[in-house]
Amino acid sequence: MVSLKEYIERAVNEKFALGAMNFNNMESLQGIVEACKDERSPAIISVSEGALAYMGDEYTLALAAAAKKVHPQLFLHLDHGKSLEICKKAINMGFDSVMIDNSALPFEENIKLTAEVCKAAHNKGVLVEGELGQIKGIEDNVEAAEHHYTDPEKAKIFVERTNVDMLAVAIGTSHGAYKYSGEKTLRFDILEKIEALLPKTPLVLHGASNVCDELVADFNRYGGELIEASGIPEELLQKAVREHNVVKINTDTDIRLAMTAETRRVLSENKNEFDLRKFLGAGRERVRSIISEKIRNIFYSNNKI
Ligand code: G3H
Ligand code: 13P
Ligand code: ZN
Repeated sequence: MVSLKEYIERAVNEKFALGAMNFNNMESLQGIVEACKDERSPAIISVSEGALAYMGDEYTLALAAAAKKVHPQLFLHLDHGKSLEICKKAINMGFDSVMIDNSALPFEENIKLTAEVCKAAHNKGVLVEGELGQIKGIEDNVEAAEHHYTDPEKAKIFVERTNVDMLAVAIGTSHGAYKYSGEKTLRFDILEKIEALLPKTPLVLHGASNVCDELVADFNRYGGELIEASGIPEELLQKAVREHNVVKINTDTDIRLAMTAETRRVLSENKNEFDLRKFLGAGRERVRSIISEKIRNIFYSNNKI
């Protein structure tokens, strides 16, 4: 069995990425798993603290175990762990990797806590993702000022002092369905500077959903009101994978949109429908189809098993 560490090293050298897909229920996970299986792709299945609280520890572990049984090249990851305690909990639960997100803390505090998580995780063979710089969320209504981006010099110090296995960088992506109000760009100049100082460090992009027009149009056609939603253009993500060391690409919003757009469609086309399997099943198929496309067109991780 190839380990997550080995896949990540391969991804840096061969220029592909592992999709890190968030799941919140059985159907969204099944859509992800089937796509990875269809495409013969290794991948990361992520749960946020919120998802863990929603599904519960036991269901989360049982779902992840089932997913791995169906497709063994899947790795369970804690997304945006905010404390040492939640990371330790995930480590003890058997997660393959954890993210400690102290990016909002002062630099030295971020280093200290991240290093502690690394020590606890590495003792058990678990990988750690740290974050430096701040990735905007939908709740941030301010424009990203320069200081929100990852500082390359600090990134070098951060990686060396913490011993993280992967580094999440802020280069202009953001969480949620509203990523741009103006020109759609990413700061590849910052990425280049980070890579010049840390040539072998596996990098992570959060907030990388594509929020494609077709998905938004379907969502809105059946009663949704996502006005001027916008995501990261495919070409920018392709460049990040093909020409840089981005080896983990996080996707949640697109999965939520796919599930919801299809659910809306089935329910509005069948006003008397109340069989959950009909609309959740349709959502699951849409998730499968968008993840397959991402694996082929953005992650390039198909046939990497
Ligand atoms: O990056 C954050 C993910 O989209 C998870 O969001 O905390 O609402 O589950 P959540
Ligand atoms: P999106 O909101 O772009 O899907 O990003 C998800 C993410 O970064 C999860 O950590
Ligand atoms: Zn994120």
